[in-house]
Amino acid sequence: MKRRHLPPVLLLLLLSLLSLSFRRRILHPQQPLRSPAGDPLLRRLAAAEGSEVDQVLADAAALLVNGSISTFPSFGNRQRFLYLRLPYVRPSGGPPRPRTVSRLRVPVSTLPSDGSLLASFRASLRSFLADHRRHRRHSHVASVMRELPALLGRRYPTCAVVGNSGALLGSNRGPQIDAHALVIRLNNARVAGYAADVGAKTSLSFVNSNILHLCAARAAATAAGCGCHPYGPAVPMAMYVCQPAHLLDAVVCNATATAASPFPLLLTDARLDALSARIAKYYSLRRFVAHTGGPASNWTSKHDERYFHYSSGMQAVVMALGVCEQVSLFGFGKPAGAKHHYHTNQKKELDLHDYAAEYDFYHDLQARPETVPFLDEAQGFTVPPVRLNW
Ligand SMILES: *[C@@H]1O[C@H](CO)[C@@H](O)[C@H](O)[C@H]1NC(C)=O
Ligand SMILES: *[C@@H]1O[C@H](CO)[C@@H](O)[C@H](O)[C@H]1NC(C)=O
Ligand SMILES: *[C@@H]1O[C@H](CO)[C@@H](O)[C@H](O)[C@H]1NC(C)=O
Repeated sequence: MKRRHLPPVLLLLLLSLLSLSFRRRILHPQQPLRSPAGDPLLRRLAAAEGSEVDQVLADAAALLVNGSISTFPSFGNRQRFLYLRLPYVRPSGGPPRPRTVSRLRVPVSTLPSDGSLLASFRASLRSFLADHRRHRRHSHVASVMRELPALLGRRYPTCAVVGNSGALLGSNRGPQIDAHALVIRLNNARVAGYAADVGAKTSLSFVNSNILHLCAARAAATAAGCGCHPYGPAVPMAMYVCQPAHLLDAVVCNATATAASPFPLLLTDARLDALSARIAKYYSLRRFVAHTGGPASNWTSKHDERYFHYSSGMQAVVMALGVCEQVSLFGFGKPAGAKHHYHTNQKKELDLHDYAAEYDFYHDLQARPETVPFLDEAQGFTVPPVRLNW
């Protein structure tokens, strides 16, 4: 006789499979329908944080626990030398000796006591560490994209991020750049004398903390707010902290600020740092695999993981994606024969950046934004239209 019914065991199995898939839907209603953008292996490698971050956090912890600040008179008592020190234990043994981490010339009159400077520095280190440790525990770094408008105060209809490429020389892009609602410039690049090509308007000055340290070392004693405002004193500065010791420069520059020369400073969120790092490393890995044919795991033979880092320009672009309805990039390419910077004679590109990989990222933003990895993890965020102008 022909069996018309499924055997009971098979029926049970079928039922349990159905209920399993039903439960998955109930329990994971937000599972994306698309698979994550980009190559899964490269994504995994890019998301693993490098030893560079460990070192920065260890430096911050050491300064918080063991750092000391002392000042000594100089220049007829109008200025003082300020030393930030850490105890250094020599490998040969013996008692620790103080090692100078940073030395600044500071004014006598406007600066608070050594003790209260140290207290402000420690408060700043503490919140830096807390911010970075929090994101390490949760790792939803892309969530920062939706919070950026609040961090920057508002959203902007049009933004220009102005890179410092020598390609801008002779471009006559100035008026086009200045027509944007928000103009972001990088690392205090000079505009005086270049207005026709790079514009004159600046709404946000994006720097890495080496730039602030240079300002502090040069002018903490003589200029309010360390004179770190080539675009006008009221233009806010967004800063990525590459060395925790530079948080002391921020404390000192803030302490010497005046109403006429304020020091509006925004530190980049730890999640924005991590997100930029992941994207930069992903594109560098992808380029390495495409150009060498070697396995992605061999990437470290070309790039030293301890120093590999995204450029300031790239982080400014990621920030702009979060606050702008339209983003235009200027001065990011380097055609053959162009100078590295429009405003300096620097010849060599820094080894720690992979500029070519960053250009790949900008090209994807313009032509294939849905393929950009990690940004797709930001719930409720869509990449705005991006336009590359060479
Ligand atoms: C502070 O200094 C002590 C003594 O040199 C050292 O053992 C300790 O590891 C240091 N703390 C940090 C957080 O680096
Ligand atoms: C900057 O200086 C102002 C006024 O002296 C002070 O109220 C503020 O807390 C300082 N900010 C930081 C981050 O140190
Ligand atoms: C990858 O690196 C290993 C070890 O350095 C090396 O032996 C190997 O040849 C490399 N593979 C390729 C395809 O470059």
